Amino acid sequence: MQYIKSVSLASFFLLVLVQGQAQPSFQANYDESKVPPYTLPELLKTTTNREVRDKETWEKVRRPEIITLFEENVYGQMPKAYDRLTYSIKNKNTSAMGGKATLKEVVIEVVRNSKSLKINLVLFVPNQQTGPVPVFLLINNRGKDNTDPTRSHKSDFWPAETVIDSGYAIAAIHVSDLAPDDTVNYVNGVLQLYPDQLTANDGMRAIGAWAWGASRALDYFEKDAAIDARKVVVVGHSRGGKASLWAAAEDQRFAMCVTNCSGNTGAALSRRGFGETVSRINTVFPHWFATNYKKFNNKVAELPLDQHMLIAAIAPRPLYATNATKDLWADPRGTFLSLKQAEIVYALYGIKSNLPANPPVVNHAIVRAPLGYHIREGEHNLTAFDWINFVKFASVYFKR
Ligand code: GCU
Repeated sequence: MQYIKSVSLASFFLLVLVQGQAQPSFQANYDESKVPPYTLPELLKTTTNREVRDKETWEKVRRPEIITLFEENVYGQMPKAYDRLTYSIKNKNTSAMGGKATLKEVVIEVVRNSKSLKINLVLFVPNQQTGPVPVFLLINNRGKDNTDPTRSHKSDFWPAETVIDSGYAIAAIHVSDLAPDDTVNYVNGVLQLYPDQLTANDGMRAIGAWAWGASRALDYFEKDAAIDARKVVVVGHSRGGKASLWAAAEDQRFAMCVTNCSGNTGAALSRRGFGETVSRINTVFPHWFATNYKKFNNKVAELPLDQHMLIAAIAPRPLYATNATKDLWADPRGTFLSLKQAEIVYALYGIKSNLPANPPVVNHAIVRAPLGYHIREGEHNLTAFDWINFVKFASVYFKR
């Protein structure tokens, strides 16, 4: 009886953990004065202690090293091989949104070793355009209704009409096609094509699978004449924003990255231990990152990397990060500092960052900078305000 009682108590706590609610023993630090002193790994020094002074050394030596460090220790390998990628247009409507856009519902099928994976892509392309257009691709980690192709349900999480009116295409894939977001079923997607990953300590997990899926959508864009595949912006919110960063770092075909409220193991510096921590994220979401990452649960100072290095791996491409005032869990200050740290890599390309020394005031968007940023008033979410600024930021860089 006693045994049964403790088992059910244990499973209760496990349930609490899995659902991402407050972990009984976890107290997040929200006090800036309690952020421990920390030393970040140097961006411009190779693992063999060589100084990186030019973009050639960055590209040939240091950047690949950084990608390998993230693969081995955080997000896992990014398998690139597949036998076949085909796509079919399941539904097309040239007079969607009252004639303003063409809707395409595309099924991308990827086959490897006779296993097949189907990824559903929803895409709206503005009709009033003469040539191929840039596209925003959202890695949707929330309900599928947010990206409703019929538009009977509209949501600021993916404000397709606003984006179309601005002259951009907008697309979305859903994480459940790639790795369902739960501790058991995450294997039922991309990982069926790459079963070896499951037994490797540096094997891909859910966040890696979502990023992988974004690259397959990009494979499709390269074949769609309506899309300018050299101008694809990968966008993600929160856990999706961790994946958008990883996708942009791994796949240099992405022209731009947007990471919205991505927090821990996204854009925020792990060593600050402010809000969510590495140990907490690995415990509550054990299916997100490679097994190796768990070694650092209570030893973040020993990580051979921090998240500023992921931002830097996206350079010289423009990157936009956001936070929200009521979302201290995602460590706004640690996100801004991460961007600041990465400036020196943009400088190797002669690109001047216009970021101020401290985070801008609330609701002030820095869009004229290679590292764009805003902290919006409000909750942890992806909103119309955020999207309007993504469009402004893209328009600066795509000169539209
Ligand atoms: C949880 C998790 C975060 C994540 C967020 C989200 O709060 O701890 O790391 O970013 O969910 O995806 O909304």
